[in-house]
Order: sequence, then C-alpha cells, then structure tokens
Amino acid sequence: PFPVYNQLRNSTPIRYDESRDCWDVLRYEDVHRILKDPVTFSSVRELTGKGTATILTMDPPRHSQLRSLVNKTFTPRVISDLAPHIESITNEMLDAVKDNNHMDLVHDLAVPLPVVVIAELLGVPPRDRELFKEWSDILVKGPDTNSDEAFSQVMKEKERAIQELNDYFAKILEQRRVDPKEDLISLLLSAEIEGQQLNDMEIISFSVLLLAAGNETTTNLITNAVRILTEKTEIQQQLRGNPELIPSFIEEVLRYYPPIQAIGRVATTDIEIGGKLIKKGNQVVSWIASANRDESKFVEPDAFITERRPNTHLSFGFGIHFCLGAPLARLEGQIAIRTMLNRMEDIEFIAGSPLTSIQSPFVYGVKQFPIAFR
Ligand code: HEM
Repeated sequence: PFPVYNQLRNSTPIRYDESRDCWDVLRYEDVHRILKDPVTFSSVRELTGKGTATILTMDPPRHSQLRSLVNKTFTPRVISDLAPHIESITNEMLDAVKDNNHMDLVHDLAVPLPVVVIAELLGVPPRDRELFKEWSDILVKGPDTNSDEAFSQVMKEKERAIQELNDYFAKILEQRRVDPKEDLISLLLSAEIEGQQLNDMEIISFSVLLLAAGNETTTNLITNAVRILTEKTEIQQQLRGNPELIPSFIEEVLRYYPPIQAIGRVATTDIEIGGKLIKKGNQVVSWIASANRDESKFVEPDAFITERRPNTHLSFGFGIHFCLGAPLARLEGQIAIRTMLNRMEDIEFIAGSPLTSIQSPFVYGVKQFPIAFR
C-alpha cells in the first residue's frame, strides 16, 4: 500500500471519500495535529452490540482517570522486569521447532508469544492458556473472503468469543475478589477513582481490550521485523555483528511497516485542516502509515535505515491515547529478534511459499511466514 499512500499524500493529502463517508488524512503534520487535539477530534464512537466503552473509545475526563490508573502497570520499568521471563517463553517456543530447521514464524512464535505474556499479566492460569488463545485468535480474525456471508459469519463468531471471554473473566473476577493475587485483575479490583471502585464490566472490557489491542499488533510487529531480516540480508548481518542496534531496528520496523495503518476520530466541531472544511460529526481517518513516509518529516522515507535518528514515527499513535502497551510491544519485539538471531543462522523466507496479507486495510501483516534457518 505504501506507493499508494505516497501518491495520495502528494495529490490529495486531505480528501473526503464518499463511499466510506469519511475524511482521509495523509500528511504527517495534519495527522499529528489531529491526534494532539482530543477536544476537537473525539475518540468516542457508538458501540455496536453489547460493548462497553474502554479507554480507547473515551475522551477526558474519564479517559484520564482510567488511563492514569493503568499506566502504573505498563511503565517501561515495570515492563522491563518481565524481560527474563519473556526470554524463557521465547526459548521454549523456539525449542519446540528447533529440530526441523524450518518453522512458520506466525504460528510458532509471533502469535503465541504475545498471547501468553498478556494472559500472565492479567492472571489467567497456565492451564487455561489454550482456551484463551482460541478466543483471542477469533477476536482478531478477518473474513476469508470479501463476501457478506463470510463477514457476518466472522462477526457472529466474534460476538460469541466476546461473550465467552466476558463469562470467563467474570469468573476470574469472583476468584480474585476473595483471593487477590499479584496480577492486573486484582489491581483493578482494588482500585478507586474519586472514592469509587470500577464496576465489573469496566474491568472485563479493559481485559478484553488488552487482548484485542495488544495481540495481533505485536504478532505483526514480530513478523514484519523478520520480514525485513529476510528481505534485506545485509541488515540481518548488521544486527548479528551489532546486537545493540536491535532497539533502533525495531523502531524502524514500526515506522516502515506499521502494524496499525490508521486511527479514527470524529470531529466535535466544524474545523479547517489543510484548506478543507471538516464538519462537526464527520469521521476522520488519520493514516499513520502514510505520515511515517512523509518526505517533509523523514529523510529518505522509503529507505529502511536501522539507525534512523530521530525516528518520530506515529505507529503507536500520539498524545493522550498513545499506546499503553508500547513498552511491552517493544520489549517483545526486541527479545524475539535477539533470541532468533542468537539461535539461528541464515534466517530466510522459504521461497515460493504463499504470502497472504491480512484482509484489512487498517492492519499490516501476513497470515503465514515460513522460514528456514541453520
Ligand atoms: C492504543 C498501536 C501493542 C494496548 C494504541 C494506539 C495505537 C496502538 C496506534 C492509539 C489508538 C488511538 O489513538 O486511537 C499498537 C501497536 C502495537 C501495540 C502498533 C504493537 C506493535 C499493544 C499492546 C497492548 C496495547 C501489547 C497491551 C498490552 C493498547 C491500549 C491502547 C492502545 C490499551 C489504548 C490507549 C488509550 O486509549 O489511552 N495502540 N499497540 N497495545 N494500545 Fe497499542
């Protein structure tokens, strides 16, 4: 999609798309301005079905209250303490395929790693991991074909998975209420905002949000990173010799192949951007994948530069909704790549394997990524 973004950004950087009834915004400066201004560009949207609002779809002041509560659990300090544990989970997953000299990166590592980590943070007992993975797979599943039938089939499956997850978390909540542990659910149960406890639905929806927002995105970060290593073998060599470059490599992967391509907002008032009048109530789609390649912000934007500095990509968003899980996603990405490079020589894509993209204009990733190694 990147050449298309480049072309649109230069021809029609802000355009109204009638068929989708929304504005597309493609330049860095404009995207940045929108994300910086939650008063004019709201995150609140009408929820379909039985959904409960989460921080992702709230505006201040409720957003700020809930966000500061959960921020504590996701600081880089707290998250970096998880490193040894994430490393051992990664090694376990790679041990399972080590005798084969080939693996499907998506299935064998990139999908299960984030699921297991989130499950543990939340306090899901290890015996329920498989169950949990099935639900989170369904949550992020897209339709196999573009037909209406396939779409409504997937929607039905998702509704059922959400219902089952809700019931499951409700049970865990009951257990933690009587017997608190050192996990996120226990923390949320004991938390108060202005003397008021969170209600059960708020805690459950937040847990489901972590699954939905954190798993597929991190899966795609890991896969996209390995894609770069196989597409650009000189970079694989560079990192083998200089593992201290892995954090900036991961940042450049995020900029170059962002797992989330766009972020939606709704205008709360008539507002002019780049000479266009956006009307109150209009949907606005900010294309971070395009902003990340904006030549007025980045030198040689279409080149992958491991040591790019500064690298002010927008792949985790910007402003008050900046990704809560960014420290965790970065850590998992870095550990996955470091561990793979340590254990495997000559990682390469198995030529001729089919590469199917995930069927969503907002997500960038592939469904399988078979690799061979020594
Ligand atoms: C928000 C991307 C991983 C939890 C966001 C936003 C983006 C994003 C772009 C902003 C959405 C907006 O402004 O409307 C990503 C990417 C990830 C990733 C690219 C992986 C590479 C994670 C993980 C977690 C997580 C691992 C949880 C463990 C959240 C939450 C929000 C969020 C809770 C909402 C924050 C708020 O509204 O205040 N993410 N994310 N994300 N992300 Fe992530």
